[in-house]
Amino acid sequence: MKKILITGASGFVGSFLVEEALKRGLEVYAGIRATSSKKYLQDKRINFFELNFNDLSDLRDRLQQINFDYVIHNAGVVKANKKADFFTYNTDITVNFAQLLQEVQLDLKKFTYISSAASYGPADNLGRGYVKESDTPQPIDTYGESKLAAEKWLKSQSNFPYLIFRPTGVYGPRETEIFTFFKAFNQGLEGHIGRTPQKMAFIYVKDLVKVVLDGTLSDKAQSAYFVSDGNAYPTQDLGKIAAKALNKKPLIKINIPIGVVQLVATIGEGFGRLSGKMPVLNLEKVKILKSKNWQVDIAPLQNDFNFAPAFDLESGLLETIHWYKENKWL
Ligand SMILES: NC(=O)c1ccc[n+]([C@@H]2O[C@H](COP(=O)([O-])OP(=O)(O)OC[C@H]3O[C@@H](n4cnc5c(N)ncnc54)[C@H](OP(=O)(O)O)[C@@H]3O)[C@@H](O)[C@H]2O)c1
Repeated sequence: MKKILITGASGFVGSFLVEEALKRGLEVYAGIRATSSKKYLQDKRINFFELNFNDLSDLRDRLQQINFDYVIHNAGVVKANKKADFFTYNTDITVNFAQLLQEVQLDLKKFTYISSAASYGPADNLGRGYVKESDTPQPIDTYGESKLAAEKWLKSQSNFPYLIFRPTGVYGPRETEIFTFFKAFNQGLEGHIGRTPQKMAFIYVKDLVKVVLDGTLSDKAQSAYFVSDGNAYPTQDLGKIAAKALNKKPLIKINIPIGVVQLVATIGEGFGRLSGKMPVLNLEKVKILKSKNWQVDIAPLQNDFNFAPAFDLESGLLETIHWYKENKWL
């Protein structure tokens, strides 16, 4: 049985990666911290592998005890108190971990890195309307920069069998960010920020993990792929689907002008500089909110792995909302 280690297994995407790897008949090692939740890791077939990226000598010792065939490095942070933390947790950990694996896991067949479409930034200034591999990456936030820095380092490793996946917005059961929109909607409030029409890109978590496993188990290496379901969604679609799935019309529909959000973010950042903590609403978030187009090129994914997502935003969200209700989140 081939062995696979999946880091960040306790998180949203990681827990689905674990389930998909089990379905493929792999011996699965869920890479988690001592403090990580095992709520979504209850399958008896799961082995656990404690990850402490702060103690590389301990990590080296433990990596020497198991020969992994595949590693999916999915652990990462999408939010951080300080900009430097993005580089510590997304870039440095990836580099240190991949270096250790190159030293001690001599039979490793694949190192799959879960990056993000944020590493290339939006397609706003590209005449063609979507971002593709050969474009010059232009991340617009520190998160994207930190993912790009990890990608650049991997691409400099000429003999390392890496693959990079760059998902757009991932949604599905267990996810907590997009959920806040549906929670508010269910309570009668539909909130939007700004009036800039946006073309959003999404991927349902179940389609994402299938193609990540397809890639990991394939012969392909030293390539990178954007992942979306191939459609462009106006932000209002979330409200339309929520209304249909919850059979509700919002009592209050608010649209906060972007100028107001920018002012709040500027003040927040001023305080943030004094306290050393980045506020949740910051000027980088404003840049994201102002961007118009997050379309990506999925042709390489279709060519190399016959990628054909089973869900579009409506069918994926209907299933997700059903899960929210079943699990009493709504
Ligand atoms: N969600 C999206 O829309 C999206 C889009 C594009 C890319 N991604 C990427 O997908 C990956 C997973 O994201 P997610 O949405 O599933 O996030 P998540 O639910 O927050 O999960 C993050 C996982 O990473 C682990 N982790 C974070 N810092 C760690 C550290 N220092 N040492 C060990 N483990 C650490 C967390 O462990 P604990 O449980 O112990 O905290 C958790 O298991 C990330 O790399 C993210 O950048 C996500």
